[in-house]
Parts: sequence; structure tokens; C-alpha cells
Amino acid sequence: MTKLTIPQIKDKKKKISMLTAYDCPTARIVEKAGLDMILVGDSLGNVVLGYDSTLPVTMDEMLHHTKAVRRGAKDTFLIADMPFMSYQVSDEEALRNGGRFIKEAGADAVKLEGAGVVIDRMKALISVGIPVLGHLGLTPQTATVLGGYKVQGRELSSAIKIYNDSLLLDKLGCFAIILECVPRQLAKIITEAVSIPTIGIGAGKYCNGQVLVIHDMLGIKENNKSKFVKEYLNLEDEILGALKNFKSDIIGNLFPAKENSFSIDKDTLEKLKKKLGIERDA
Ligand code: KIV
Repeated sequence: MTKLTIPQIKDKKKKISMLTAYDCPTARIVEKAGLDMILVGDSLGNVVLGYDSTLPVTMDEMLHHTKAVRRGAKDTFLIADMPFMSYQVSDEEALRNGGRFIKEAGADAVKLEGAGVVIDRMKALISVGIPVLGHLGLTPQTATVLGGYKVQGRELSSAIKIYNDSLLLDKLGCFAIILECVPRQLAKIITEAVSIPTIGIGAGKYCNGQVLVIHDMLGIKENNKSKFVKEYLNLEDEILGALKNFKSDIIGNLFPAKENSFSIDKDTLEKLKKKLGIERDA
């Protein structure tokens, strides 16, 4: 499989498939499955690191996981999520941190949430040749301001804001926009209005592509799944069953079996026993 280029991604005729990944073996499987893009999301905080939100996620944590994903998926277009406060303060900080994802971690692009002051940061990154993926709608880094983790753009004013911000991101040179948790009708209007692809998560079928958090679609979850997630597997229960079987095999002397262990040749064993003065069978 050859890695997608930005012009190929920008071709709106293509249906883009994207998943998150946070470690090397998962990235390897995602690449093997032929997904178009991998996002090392700052959802890392929730699904892997056990934080309550994405806010505590640091640059160091994101770099560490992005490097691991790149080692597992060398030929897939890889986007690193810029964590909270790694780009908000100044263009300089956005450039320094965005550059680290490309230079040190091997990412192909970075993702920033929102518009407003973020527009300038995006312009700065794009001006030095760092491809930027936008993210509008429910932006988890500012969920408190948005009134929590809920659908955005149901009211006229917020629908117009998301629409106008999408046009801005298109104009300034983002190569695609993630639309998270917006009504499908609004996602359709935006998709038809912008020249770049929209990638939906909880934004309905009219987007040019779709992304999900891999733990959600594989069914590894502590709480109830969101309405927009389709579970393709119940991996949590699969893993649980396997771990319980492992424990009961140990208790029941069923593991390890002979085929799960190593052997020494008879002659050496005899000599060993003699040397150690052992009479009984080992
Ligand atoms: O962090 C993340 O995983 C994301 C996706 C939900 C798009 O931003």
C-alpha cells in the first residue's frame, strides 16, 4: 500500500477511511486493513491513559505514542493531534510543537481544534509546509465552553458559526476538516460548500470520509457507547473471556501443557540428576 498524498486526500470523490491508533501493534493492524489515514488523537488521554478528558494530555505523551504508531504503520498517512495548550499561546509555540510531530515523530500532518485564534496558528503551520487538518463541531478541548460533550450546531447561531468556520478553514488551506457531533443535514451543507473533504465522527453519511476512535469501534469501553459509534466487535468481552480462561487453566493445571514447555535430552537429564544426586523423575 502506498501512502496517500495531500492532493489525493483533497480529491473529494474519494471516500476517506480513518481510525485512531495509539501504539505500534494496533497501527500495524490498521495499516494491514488498508485504512487511508491514522489519527493519533488526544483521545489517547481518555481511552489509553485513563484521564477524564483530553485536557491533561501533554506533548511528551503525544510524541511518545505518535512515534510508536509510526513504527507500526510506515506507509499510512499519519496525523498527530496537537494537545491542549500546545498551540493556543502563540504562533511560535504552535510552530515549535507542530514541527516536533513532523521532525521527531514522523507524522505527516497535525490536527488543531476550533477556529478563532486558532486560525492564525493554522496559517503559521501551513506557511512553513506543515499540513493541517481542522476539527469543528464538538471540540473536546473546549467542551466546557460548549456546554459539555453534546451535539453542536442544532441552534441557528451555532450552525452558522460552524458553517462559517468551515469556509474559513477551507480558505486558509487546511487539507480536510473533521466534523464532530453535528447534525447530518448541517454536515451535508458544509460538505457541499467547501472545496476540501469533510471527515465525520457523529456527523452522518454525507461527509466525504469517516473516522472513529478505535477502542469504540472494537468495543473496548468502560461506559455506554455513543449513539454515533458502530461496534464492529465486542473486544472487551472477548478479552475478558480469554483472561478468565487463562486463570482457570492455571488453577486446573491445564496450562502450560506439554506443548507449551521445553525439554532437555534424556542423556543430559540423567547426567544432571546424577550430578545433583536426584533419584526421582523430574
Ligand atoms: O482525539 C481524537 O481521537 C479525535 C477524534 C475523535 C476525531 O479528535
